[in-house]
Amino acid sequence: MTFPTGPVKVPDVVARIAAGRGVEPVWVNELGGVTFAVGTGFAAAVEYVKVHPDEHADLLAAEVPRLRWARRFTAVPEVLGSGPGWLHTAALAGRTAVDPRWVDAADVAARAIGTGLRHLHDALPVADCPFGRPSWVPADAPEPDRLVVCHGDACAPNTLMTDDGTFAGHVDLGDLGVADRWADLAIATMSLDWNYPTDGPDGFAAVLLDAYGVTADTERMAYYRRAWD
Ligand SMILES: Nc1ncnc2c1ncn2[C@@H]1O[C@H](COP(=O)(O)OP(=O)(O)OP(=O)(O)O)[C@@H](O)[C@H]1O
Ligand SMILES: [Mg+2]
Repeated sequence: MTFPTGPVKVPDVVARIAAGRGVEPVWVNELGGVTFAVGTGFAAAVEYVKVHPDEHADLLAAEVPRLRWARRFTAVPEVLGSGPGWLHTAALAGRTAVDPRWVDAADVAARAIGTGLRHLHDALPVADCPFGRPSWVPADAPEPDRLVVCHGDACAPNTLMTDDGTFAGHVDLGDLGVADRWADLAIATMSLDWNYPTDGPDGFAAVLLDAYGVTADTERMAYYRRAWD
């Protein structure tokens, strides 16, 4: 889960979608999946194509109905097309919270991530959610503090930010589902340690939770971090 460092082969499906427009690999995930920006060169990307290896294609198939449903309530990418192992979306304005610009201003990023999760949890209706719990959340999880529609993969790179440092939207919704809000908060705060230089124990995590509007529930956070592992 990082920015590409070497050359990346452009898959046929991406070349077909680009139809002569500029293509640039922007993200490589830990399963060997690559996300390409399309329409680059003169302006910001206008579309993205995420391509996963065959053995992980089901993750992308799960993301399509989740993006379509969540988009009725909050800022997530519009699906333009999909097929086995690929997902084509319209660009959401904004840059990932782990863009170098925000790695150098981690407190701003942590605040935007917390604000974004709060917005997501408030906006998506649990009662109407057609999806079950995220794949990694145990069926016998503790009594929820507050049941919400969770992002399901609330790592820092999946929050997008405007250039002035506010929350812009969410990407990567393949595991969206109903769970305790601490399922997202546990992973979001943990991922700060991976993506930003530390400023002492729990520094940025406290900023994230403050922006969300909650005080740390260390027991629930520990539980969901174990479940995530
Ligand atoms: N429609 C979009 N609009 C804006 N940015 C996007 C869009 N789709 C993807 N991105 C960018 O590409 C990155 C990778 O996309 P995404 O998170 O969906 O891929 P992934 O491989 O599932 O990620 P992960 O490593 O978290 O599993 C995002 O972090 C975001 O910066
Ligand atoms: Mg992602």
